[in-house]
Amino acid sequence: MSDQVRIVEVGPRDGLQNEKSILELRDKIALVNALSKTGLRDIETGSFVSPKWVPQMANSGEAFKGITKNPSVRYSALTPNLKGYELARDAGADEVAIFAAASEGFSQKNINCSISESIERFKGITEQAKRDQIPVRGYLSCIFACPYDGATPIEVVIDACEKLFEIGCYEVSLGDTTGVGTAYETKTLMQHLTPRFDTARLALHFHDTYGQALANVYAGLEAGVRNFDASVAGLGGCPYAKGASGNLATEDLVYLLDRSGLQHGVDLEALIDAGNEICTTLGRRNLSAVARARSSS
Ligand code: HMG
Ligand code: MG
Repeated sequence: MSDQVRIVEVGPRDGLQNEKSILELRDKIALVNALSKTGLRDIETGSFVSPKWVPQMANSGEAFKGITKNPSVRYSALTPNLKGYELARDAGADEVAIFAAASEGFSQKNINCSISESIERFKGITEQAKRDQIPVRGYLSCIFACPYDGATPIEVVIDACEKLFEIGCYEVSLGDTTGVGTAYETKTLMQHLTPRFDTARLALHFHDTYGQALANVYAGLEAGVRNFDASVAGLGGCPYAKGASGNLATEDLVYLLDRSGLQHGVDLEALIDAGNEICTTLGRRNLSAVARARSSS
């Protein structure tokens, strides 16, 4: 098994989309620039969704244009439809992400259409992105449970993963949107997924609502997964998933990887500084246990 882990930093998108206040453009740019200097290679910088649905992301185009690009970093954006895709591409996104759900209830609440309608819509994005040579990542939300429909059957996750790969996603990131799953459930899910899919093309995206995210990562590592999403300072949540709190903190993930002898290329101290800075700006507590431990010593 590879000892290289890829971390996808989702703080500027998943982290900030759920903040009550809308971060000033200059502060958002400062956050992305600080993250680009930590050794992170993938930064989800914003999303091109309806500004009526998620006003916190309305300045994503300006953010993309305002950042100082580090050529070693892939700056990606979330796109729900062709309109969002074109805006992201024209703003200079290196990669886009489409986002489907493994539950009908969440699909309706989050993107106002059924799962099958969303796949049709996303096909329009993947076809255009192929012509533009822009890689497309797929998210799959509610892998364990949905705040509207309850427990998610594993067969639905398998089916949705198949569809996302079929339409051209290079990777599928499996999201525990409300952060309810445990390591046991991650292990069980991966036992069903790894025989069917190339594990190198799967990523895990844990929210930490019940404090299980890091244990879930460990279960994913044991199953051979080497791609993980995380958010600096544990910022995050989904405005359309009641109860969804912050993502797994990137600092905590890096600490685990460091002490497990796994390579990731991220400078923990620089990351802690970036996390403390954004928490000061937002006037909120840093949710990374590692950042708090290091900052108080
Ligand atoms: P809709 O209202 O059905 O869209 O929303 P519509 O196509 O009927 O258009 C309505 C209006 O929105 C029109 O404007 C469009 O132009 C505009 P009007 O004519 O009324 O002035 N519009 C747009 N404007 C800018 N950018 C666009 C865009 N599209 C339409 N791309 C839509 C459907 C998908 C747009 C909406 O539901 C939406 O934006 N949803 C996004 C919700 C969201 O961002 N949720 C959070 C991200 S997902 C997540 O966090 C989970 C994840 O982290 C993984 C996990 O944790 O599980 C990824
Ligand atoms: Mg998320």
